[in-house]
Amino acid sequence: MQTVNRLDELHPAVDSLRQRGDVALVPTMGALHPGHLTLVREAKARAGAVVVSIFVNPTQFGPNEDLAAYPRQLAEDTRLLEAEGVDLLWAPSVEEVYPEGFATHISVAGLSETLCGAFRPGHFDGVATVVAKLFNHVRPDLAVFGEKDWQQLAVIRRMARDLDLTHPRTARILGVPTVRELDGLAMSSRNRYLSSQDRARAGALPRLMREAIAAIVSGEAVASTLATLRSALLEAGFESVDYAELADARSLRPLTAAADAPARLFVAARIGGTRLIDNMPLAD
Ligand code: PAF
Repeated sequence: MQTVNRLDELHPAVDSLRQRGDVALVPTMGALHPGHLTLVREAKARAGAVVVSIFVNPTQFGPNEDLAAYPRQLAEDTRLLEAEGVDLLWAPSVEEVYPEGFATHISVAGLSETLCGAFRPGHFDGVATVVAKLFNHVRPDLAVFGEKDWQQLAVIRRMARDLDLTHPRTARILGVPTVRELDGLAMSSRNRYLSSQDRARAGALPRLMREAIAAIVSGEAVASTLATLRSALLEAGFESVDYAELADARSLRPLTAAADAPARLFVAARIGGTRLIDNMPLAD
């Protein structure tokens, strides 16, 4: 595996990988866990060469968020990616991605404003902007993201279509189902912030979400089921619930009934100061 930091190294390295066929990009912020490695495997199964980017993107963190504390472990991540047979690791510096005077932001209206967007102003602008830059530099035929960040995936798909990043190089955007721990907790780099006691309690999140889904599917009213879910999360040890919403899987508009639209349950809740998010389909 080749590792590059600078853009003038990245471009010839990607050009030479193209001779092997389709190039897949797996954008990450590092602190890799088995969920990320699943994305890499999906990319490898579909493309001739795999590029992974590791960049803790400052523009997607709010002023009071965990940018400084976000786990960074480049040596360990490099070892993990090497073992997966990744072809190229791109780990740029902040100065390389955001040169002095940087002043352009991409904002995807609507999809960025609901759910997490309402609680993390500017977060999805930071994501859309950096992913557009990653796509421009690698020009992948395929890009792979986790469905755990369902809203992020929706924002990126919209941005790529609206800015024609899916043409002429395909940049097909593949969403990969969430990888979960044994108790159902969605894998996340932020899970490592949890104390062992909070980690044990956090397993209530997917369990209570599944119970809420079963209630809605069996005909319980959506509003009262979501209210029960919020209270149950607080009882289970979560200190606050940003949202627990049933929403249209594509538009992310809230649903008040389990309607014809493909619906998903979305939750963001805090435990031990750590904000966890998850989402699940109403029906598989
Ligand atoms: O999901 C992430 O790790 C990040 O939001 C992404 C897509 C790499 C953009 O910084």
